[in-house]
Amino acid sequence: MSFYVTTPIYYVNAAPHLGHAYTTIAADVMARHHRQRGEEVFFLTGTDEHGEPVADAAHALGVEPQELADKNAERFRALAPQLSASNDFFIRTTDPQHEAKVQEVLGRVREGGYVYEGTYEGWYCPRCADFKADNEIEEGTRCPIHHIELTREQEQNYFFALSAFQERLEALYGEHERFVLPATRRNEALAFIRSGLRDVPLTRHRLRWGVRVPWDDEHVFYVWFDALLNYYSALSYARDQDLTARLWPPSYHLIGKDILRFHAVYWPALLMAAELELPEHIFVHGFLLMDGEKMSKSLGNVLDPFAVIERFGADALRFYLFREVPFGQDGSVSTASFELRYETELANELGNLASRTIAMLLRYRGGEVSSGALDESLTGDFSGLVDSVSELIDGAELTLALDEIWRRVRRLNRYVEERAPWVLARDPANAQELDCVLRTLVEGLRSVAVLLWPFLPGSSERLLAALGASELALAGAALGAGQIARVQALESLFPKDTQAASA
Ligand code: MSP
Repeated sequence: MSFYVTTPIYYVNAAPHLGHAYTTIAADVMARHHRQRGEEVFFLTGTDEHGEPVADAAHALGVEPQELADKNAERFRALAPQLSASNDFFIRTTDPQHEAKVQEVLGRVREGGYVYEGTYEGWYCPRCADFKADNEIEEGTRCPIHHIELTREQEQNYFFALSAFQERLEALYGEHERFVLPATRRNEALAFIRSGLRDVPLTRHRLRWGVRVPWDDEHVFYVWFDALLNYYSALSYARDQDLTARLWPPSYHLIGKDILRFHAVYWPALLMAAELELPEHIFVHGFLLMDGEKMSKSLGNVLDPFAVIERFGADALRFYLFREVPFGQDGSVSTASFELRYETELANELGNLASRTIAMLLRYRGGEVSSGALDESLTGDFSGLVDSVSELIDGAELTLALDEIWRRVRRLNRYVEERAPWVLARDPANAQELDCVLRTLVEGLRSVAVLLWPFLPGSSERLLAALGASELALAGAALGAGQIARVQALESLFPKDTQAASA
């Protein structure tokens, strides 16, 4: 079994922001979960460095595009470990191996008869690097995403015969109900296809900053075709050996809703033209909003992930994003709701559960955990949990998966209150019952910690180390599958005085 997951590659025209961190974390959660299943996992992220978005930004700064790309690519590369993202490779579209692969694949598409010369005339957003159809234009001939004025382009180009794939794309959507997820996005993409596909420019004439077109020196490839092919090219040079045969096609492309059409329409058509297998799923997430607007550098309303991580740690940010905003939908984020969830859920619910459980075992039993049967009044509430979490993550339902686990964190807290071990501890006649309650509690804690690992990798590992149970495999995640012998003291997982934590 292999699992190949990708994020979009990020434009290097500006510094990373929370919107970028979001997709990277989502992919990381999925990658870690599949590693827990013992699958061969490949998780790819990287930077999209060609085209107008970057050329224009470099021009405005008075530097060469390569210089801006080099500087900002490093910032994106550095973001991944700060988020605790475990990507297996970081691709840059200026990598020579990527460029050669783009030339090879698109050359093949041309040989297949899907490329012809023509003239493009229409509206274009240089920030999206997107040709806009008349019905996609905001009042005042503006971009509906960036709200900047569109430019009128007239250019001699090579075209990709997208319209030739109309029927095959419709058939693909008919046969693979779950090719694009969630269903609302699938319907949106299908409606676009059914409205009639028009051919799209494959190359740009005016622009110099891009992958050279091998059959015509005056052209570079249109940045979107260059960018999309990163998902394919990376496998050929990420390691010493070519991983394509082992890992292609991708299991999941995770993308934001603004780049749906490129991934759900252009990309499968391009792969068909190149006679390559199609990805299994494209999951489309919503926007993180602040004050009701999409967060973006150009709109200037950025919540800085670096600042949040420095003060509260990567785990807290990872948790917050999937708890606060249902994955797949738009949702607002704010520092106020972040702090509230940190305190009520991470610190009070999970943090206290862990510290209380360990403290009681240390106080009443010198840290020793007895063996024997677990309390059936709790085990029933955990049955089937591992399978249901796995199923949800299979469908990229990250918020629902986290909620399943969190309900058990709450259940464990209620269990502590119901069984009140501090009362049992007063009478030696209750010794057996107290043993059973503590054993059940600590085993429940272990089970949720293993399941939470994809979301909270650092905290889960610390907790599991204190429980002397560092095994992360999902096969041993179920309540009752483990046998903890003794626990050790644990420093607060989510300190409330976060200034002290970061000091
Ligand atoms: N370079 C292209 C993608 C090429 S993939 C072959 C691109 N880059 S981007 O940097 O502009 O955006 C990358 C991703 O970040 C997109 O999926 C976009 O939706 C996501 N986000 C950017 N801002 C966002 C939010 N405020 N919220 C959530 N995600 C958003 O597009």
